[in-house]
Amino acid sequence: MMVQGPVRVETPDGSTVESDRFMVAICTCRRSKTYPLCDTSHRKKRRPTP
Ligand code: FES
Repeated sequence: MMVQGPVRVETPDGSTVESDRFMVAICTCRRSKTYPLCDTSHRKKRRPTP
């Protein structure tokens, strides 16, 4: 999800992540290694379920 920056995101554990970019990609798939910011991990294919 793209949001207009700057942003401050509070995570469920109470910590905060800040970004002063003009546009900020927020991860909504929870696969990002930089969660809550998107690192494009959502583009990777998932293994099909058997
Ligand atoms: S939306 Fe989760 S990594 Fe991009």
